[in-house]
Amino acid sequence: AEPLRIALAGLGTVGAGVVRLLDANGDLIARRAGRPIEVVAVSARDRTKDRGIDISRFDWVDDPAELAGHAGADVVVELVGGSDGPALSLARKTLQGGKGLVTANKAMIAHHGLELAGAAEAAGVALKFEAAVAGGIPVIKGLREGAAANVLTQVYGILNGTCNFVLSKMEAEGRDFAEVLAEAQRLGYAEADPSFDIDGIDAAHKLSILASIAFGAEPAFDDIAITGIRHVLGADIAEAAALGYRVRLVGVAEAGGDGLFQRVHPHLVPLDHPLAHVSGSLNAVVAEGNFVGRLLFQGRGAGDGPTASAVVADLIDIARGEYGPPYAMPAAALSALPPAPTGDR
Ligand code: NAP
Ligand code: HSE
Repeated sequence: AEPLRIALAGLGTVGAGVVRLLDANGDLIARRAGRPIEVVAVSARDRTKDRGIDISRFDWVDDPAELAGHAGADVVVELVGGSDGPALSLARKTLQGGKGLVTANKAMIAHHGLELAGAAEAAGVALKFEAAVAGGIPVIKGLREGAAANVLTQVYGILNGTCNFVLSKMEAEGRDFAEVLAEAQRLGYAEADPSFDIDGIDAAHKLSILASIAFGAEPAFDDIAITGIRHVLGADIAEAAALGYRVRLVGVAEAGGDGLFQRVHPHLVPLDHPLAHVSGSLNAVVAEGNFVGRLLFQGRGAGDGPTASAVVADLIDIARGEYGPPYAMPAAALSALPPAPTGDR
């Protein structure tokens, strides 16, 4: 069978992880997808950097936007990052040019997802972003497909691996905030600018994407009330533990009669709640559906392996021809829900 040929922009933590995963599991993936998935072209900033992978077998282009028009590629994978700039130029050109796009870029999807979904639908191509929310956990697929028959009323969870790693290590090992954050950066969990993690912005990007899919609502990142973990002290965590709680950064979205409520902030989670036992770089998402009841998704929310796993799962769907509208319904059918008061919930 003809391979699905990939142009890959970004060869950092996630991009190099995708190459390693396809090298390791390529035969099995080909059998599952019905055809091989092959990288044919790549782009990053520094051609000479040692990435622990052999890139000499791929076409190299200096400007990632050129990958959109790469004659040998069927699909573009965007793993550069940033809500605008080169990632957005590449995404627009790719979809407008009639190629499918897979991205892990939650910042870009949170801010431009509706526009990009419209472009993908107009061109009849895929736009897929499983890796953008909760790393390796198939939560987008779970809500878009597994829970598609339900009215979902609430979705909430731990959506940032870096913050969860920092809070867990501060509690379990009594370690210093800055030292644990540096370790999360070394492990490839943090964003290029880690203030996106610790100030709650990354979790809010993800929450806005989940809320759109869960509630059929237009993305509304700007309406999210956000407080990060920058000011959480070791003493706060110790005091919470003494009272039977753990401190976790939690994002909550609810849709109801008074609109769409979205909020990210440090929560005191009682020890008998499943989220209290989500530690290290794990993420977890809880969704409430009117027929299915409570769903709990849990797994590794950051890092090369889990994130590459989600990117390649999207590619397998495209190789099989299995993809629908990015938000589970046409972008034009999403409702513009007013922001609900964030007050006392
Ligand atoms: P990263 O390690 O910083 O890699 C970014 C890559 O993009 C690098 O290869 C870099 O080139 C390239 N790049 C950056 N600016 C460029 C430009 N102007 N032109 C060409 N190439 C450019 O980032 P990452 O952790 O892999 O994250 C990539 C995306 O995945 C981001 O959207 C991130 O939010 C998302 N994501 C990350 C994780 C995670 O756990 N890391 C999880 C889920 C989603 P050089 O290598 O040459 O510098
Ligand atoms: N920086 C993000 C996190 C990467 O720590 O969760 C995964 O999206």
